[in-house]
Amino acid sequence: MKGKKIILGISGSIAAYKAASLSRLLIKCGAEVQVLMTPAATDFITPLTLSTLSKRPVFSKVSSEEGWNNHVELGLWADAMIIAPATATTLAKLANGLCDNVITAVYLSARCPVFFAPAMDVDMWKHPATQRNVQQLQSYGNHLIPVGHGELASGLVGEGRMAEPEDIVAHLQAFFAKKTDFTGKKVVITAGPTYEPLDPVRFIGNRSSGKMGVAIAEVLADRGAKVRLVLGPSKLMPVHPNIELIRVQTAQQMYEAATHNFEQQHIGILAAAVADYRPIDVADKKIKKKSDKLSIALEKTPDIAASLGKVKQKGQLLIGFALETNNELDNAKGKLERKNFDFIVLNSLRDKGAGFNHDTNKITILHRSGEVKAFDLKSKTAVAADIVNEIREL
Ligand code: PMT
Repeated sequence: MKGKKIILGISGSIAAYKAASLSRLLIKCGAEVQVLMTPAATDFITPLTLSTLSKRPVFSKVSSEEGWNNHVELGLWADAMIIAPATATTLAKLANGLCDNVITAVYLSARCPVFFAPAMDVDMWKHPATQRNVQQLQSYGNHLIPVGHGELASGLVGEGRMAEPEDIVAHLQAFFAKKTDFTGKKVVITAGPTYEPLDPVRFIGNRSSGKMGVAIAEVLADRGAKVRLVLGPSKLMPVHPNIELIRVQTAQQMYEAATHNFEQQHIGILAAAVADYRPIDVADKKIKKKSDKLSIALEKTPDIAASLGKVKQKGQLLIGFALETNNELDNAKGKLERKNFDFIVLNSLRDKGAGFNHDTNKITILHRSGEVKAFDLKSKTAVAADIVNEIREL
């Protein structure tokens, strides 16, 4: 953070008092801090406090008695802009390009990375309008510093507290220290389940949430890779400027998207739980309950991994997964060879906290050389970082 020029935009929330310790911490880390305030923020904390801490004049208007505060110049000066607290109103203005105060004006002119730390009441935070604004800002490449959970100014308990100043500084430090070791690399990833329709109402599916594959996509995208994420029916909506999302439902659609995209990619990662069989006939009307037993004839779906393994060129890497319930190592080894993976990531349903839907996973990586590396139970983001580091080794 030493020598970094940071714009700290403060909007009108009770959490504005935390901006004083945030600016002090930033300065302690060696940053130069220029504070901007919305007029409402000055009701919660005085510009005098912040100018004393930051040792610079604080701007709360686009023009003041001293003249015009050049928002374009400020937008170009900064290495990062952080808006903390970011109220629901400020988020809505930023998401929609409104320009009616010094923060929104500088935001629109800024070429530097922008971070925002929302602060509001739990129901305001959960409102679809706020969530849409947050997603909109993320889709512009702005960085959300997640809200905390706890007691709020209203007395309600829930999500909506602004992150603590120490956490905000940690986010900035991690950003400036970030590796961009995958810049220039193109990656296709499959993730989530597939749904194979039986009739217009029912399908054969599985319990995959998409969390593992999405975590890998986000880690790679953060490290500079351009990612095409072929995602089966999952509730997740990853938003990242380096991730192109391709939504699919069935194994056939996932196969078409993955095979169509693989040729131009450096790396393929197959984290999806793909149905191995699908109904041969899909009824066009809801199947009625008649006899006591019902048999459904199934046929094999295309094996995406095996198809990509066959066309893999020199210089391309293909990474697979194996979800097992027994005889784990032998089953995974068989898949590693049959599907021509460069390595396979094994997770077993026998490990608590591993596999489907959990926020954590426990993996073992098996290489073609015979090397086997076992990892501890970790968050799926930390597991994704281990997998990405393993790819970097290759
Ligand atoms: O999505 P989450 O809830 O976070 O859960 C993550 C996960 C458990 C789904 C993930 O970590 C995982 O293990 N994915 C692979 C699950 C699986 O069903 O593996 P498999 O043993 O059936 O298949 C082996 C490999 O071939 C996998 O890379 C799979 O994507 C691929 N495959 C399988 C069948 C098929 N028709 N096409 C494929 O590409």
